[in-house]
Amino acid sequence: MTENTQATTNWTPRPPQWIWMDGRFLDVTAAQASVLSHGLHYGTGVFEGIRAYSTPEGPRIFALDAHLDRLRRGAECLGLAVDLESLAWACQEVLTRNGLDAAYIRPLVFQGMGGLGLDLGAQRQHSVVAAMPWRSHLGGAAAARGVKATIAAVSTLRRNRAAAIPPLKLTGGYVNAVLAKRAAAAAGFEEAIFVDDEDRVCEATGENVFAVFGDHVVAVTHPDALPGITRRAVLELARGEERELSRAELLVADEVFLTGTSAEVTPVRELDGKRFPEGAVTRRLQAAYQDLVHGRAPRTAAARPGAGRAGHRMPQQPRAAAPPPSVQVTT
Ligand SMILES: Cc1ncc(COP(=O)(O)O)c(C=O)c1O
Repeated sequence: MTENTQATTNWTPRPPQWIWMDGRFLDVTAAQASVLSHGLHYGTGVFEGIRAYSTPEGPRIFALDAHLDRLRRGAECLGLAVDLESLAWACQEVLTRNGLDAAYIRPLVFQGMGGLGLDLGAQRQHSVVAAMPWRSHLGGAAAARGVKATIAAVSTLRRNRAAAIPPLKLTGGYVNAVLAKRAAAAAGFEEAIFVDDEDRVCEATGENVFAVFGDHVVAVTHPDALPGITRRAVLELARGEERELSRAELLVADEVFLTGTSAEVTPVRELDGKRFPEGAVTRRLQAAYQDLVHGRAPRTAAARPGAGRAGHRMPQQPRAAAPPPSVQVTT
């Protein structure tokens, strides 16, 4: 694996040693799929980005059920069968095997070899869970200093329409985000925010958008935006409002910030030349979110899956005997 050296995409500094694939833990070099995998050619896969946080009681996985619930919904779109119990167990176990506590966890389920036609069914399916040492994809300093974002540099690009590709974490859909990220980086920006044909704000390439007017917090709604798990948690913490927002309104907000599993709560310090001063509301929500994910604050309903399984229980190894769980899961 080659480390991405682009300033805005600090990805994994070193690959993990152990990867869970199709029910087994394998050395990263042994976890392989065919170059004729359907998912490689057509993006027929679904993934999640989940985080585990280091706490005095050991690693804590935040909102695991909500993430797996969203993965299940994406898998259904592509006719992928997912064993949620196995995936939940693997998300926990991959941390232990790699000796990680603060980590990014990446489950991925995709269509493998078995035909390159656009009809699905004959393909073998693969499930993978990887964990890697944590580094923000917006860069480690982004939470503190904020990001320099643009709408203008990507104004000819549109977010995938929900009517074309459902706003879930389908692998093929992310080409859209990569194109926007490339255009933004080429113009000297760290992040791109999509607007639609009516100039309504949609989302960033890997985050949802919030605006603050005085003390009032607005979580931007848009039918083409991913229903973010961090967004729901932060909206609940902020006791804010959900509504559509135009580009013009965003530019006159007192504060703008982005939310995502990776970005957490990241201020936008500049948007197309408009500078936003360091915002007290954003800072307060950053702190509240850190308390939540580190288990220092009561659980929010928002971090639980909307229509998911009721309650939560520690994932257990579905087949052979599991070692005693050493990882907690917070909802
Ligand atoms: C396109 C997009 N929007 C928003 C988000 C934020 O979602 P979440 O808070 O569930 O990580 C993500 C990250 O998963 C994303 O990829």
